[in-house]
Amino acid sequence: ISSTLAATDSFLQCLSASIPSQLLYTQSSPSFTSVLDAGIRNPKFLTNTTKPVWIITPTNASHVQAAVVCGRQNNVRLRIRSGGHDYEGLSYRSERPESFAVLDLVKIRSVRVDTASNTAWVDSGATLGEMYYAIGKAGSRVAFPGGLCPTVGVGGHFSGGGFGMMLRKYGLAADNVVDAVLVDAKGRLLDRNAMGSDVFWAIRGGAGESFGVVLSWKVNLVAVPPTVTVFNVPVTVRQGAVDVLTRWQDVAPVLPDDLFIRVVVQGQTANFQSLYLGTCDALLPLMQSRFPELGVNRTHCKEMTWIQSVPYIYLGASSTVEDILNRTISMDTSNKAKSDYVRKSITKDVWTTIFGSWLARPNAGLMILDPYGGKISSVAENATPFPHRGGVLYNIQYMNFWAATGAGDAQKAWIRDFYAFMAPYVSSSPREAYANYRDNELGVNVVGAGGVSSYDTGKVWGEKYFKGNYQRLAMAKGQIDPDDYFRNEQSIPPLVSGK
Ligand code: FDA
Repeated sequence: ISSTLAATDSFLQCLSASIPSQLLYTQSSPSFTSVLDAGIRNPKFLTNTTKPVWIITPTNASHVQAAVVCGRQNNVRLRIRSGGHDYEGLSYRSERPESFAVLDLVKIRSVRVDTASNTAWVDSGATLGEMYYAIGKAGSRVAFPGGLCPTVGVGGHFSGGGFGMMLRKYGLAADNVVDAVLVDAKGRLLDRNAMGSDVFWAIRGGAGESFGVVLSWKVNLVAVPPTVTVFNVPVTVRQGAVDVLTRWQDVAPVLPDDLFIRVVVQGQTANFQSLYLGTCDALLPLMQSRFPELGVNRTHCKEMTWIQSVPYIYLGASSTVEDILNRTISMDTSNKAKSDYVRKSITKDVWTTIFGSWLARPNAGLMILDPYGGKISSVAENATPFPHRGGVLYNIQYMNFWAATGAGDAQKAWIRDFYAFMAPYVSSSPREAYANYRDNELGVNVVGAGGVSSYDTGKVWGEKYFKGNYQRLAMAKGQIDPDDYFRNEQSIPPLVSGK
């Protein structure tokens, strides 16, 4: 104990030389718990877990550099938190006993839009809502293709890929990143050129926390028409959900790129939710010719601007654009998620079993199906670390919820058993999974004899998230952080050439 205390004392002293004391919190600080909990998005991680000894809330790059340098000098590792939405809470908690500090980027969150070049510099601590809001202010014809939930942080989202309702037109958030600023394990501040092409490749989808602290990202904005159309059509099993869903699998990935139709499958209902980059007048004939089974008509259409569609889709029809700036989220339920990729349509009889045997159970969760095709699928599998490209029909996210006060055993068992049931119907060798839907049940790192995470152990989960890109990620990690300073339960292990 005394050596830990001594180490942390000198860590604090080192930090204090460069960082104002009001930006540093120890466990004895009165606001330590409120600062920590403000960025926790899943109540199951509020207790029974290894918490940080320190929280640092830097306001500029030099604070981040100092935190890295002091951390290395004192053997204190950093966990980096932007929006705190990590499904396993790895940005602020550890599964192993460990003395670590959280570097919380909540105060580094500006968004600078440049309408002349149609680009923006976005700090990692900004939320998607803050980013979209600033872009919305720049005009009704520009947008950005990222995730749906406005409270998700830019830092984690971009570094794991990031997709939303425009993925078929414009690909991933990470596909639209053109520059970034990174603090590496030596405390150096590096832009795209200085970090080199392998590291710049790696941080755009390959788990940012493995390579350093990404402070800001330069992105290209994308073009949208001044009017977009949203619809939401629920179809129950009685109304033919099995047939419509079976058909959707073949139709949705080959529609024109302007049209995205996802499905939320819960209970005995398939909810078809769409964003179309155009007017209702243009959408209706398209739906009639390509997907008449869904029965979309004019009463389903809601026309609006792209920025209005952001709160409408995620927060509901009565929400306003200002609501996407709200960083607080409900902490009433805990959740567990898993993911799959489907490359071959699932047959009608299997969907019947899914509705009849799985979704009808007590304590059942839901499935979100996001169709691919279009831009996301046209990018080469090795162009970024995100490998789920050509040939993917759709992504499945499984999710289950339980009251924050409960243990969720039945709900966790449901999701695990359902995932096992789905194995024959989804991608295999590897069974692909989306890195941003982090799932520690896929495997966690083992720190080997040399004090670094094991490359071979990491393969088990790493090839599910990254397929053949796992090895190149490990080599990029070997270049920028061979000592494995930046690590967590699922960070990329370093592979140093010659090994
Ligand atoms: P958080 O701060 O927890 O970080 C996640 C990981 O990235 C951690 O390992 C962390 O250390 C690392 N990290 C964070 N900031 C970093 C930085 N600046 N530099 C280096 N590493 C950094 N995804 C999606 O693609 N589309 C969607 O629509 C949604 N929707 C959605 C809704 C909800 C309610 C949740 C909880 C999650 C999603 N997601 C999603 C998943 C989301 O993209 C994923 O959880 C992101 O990693 C969250 O990023 P945060 O910055 O919020 O997380």
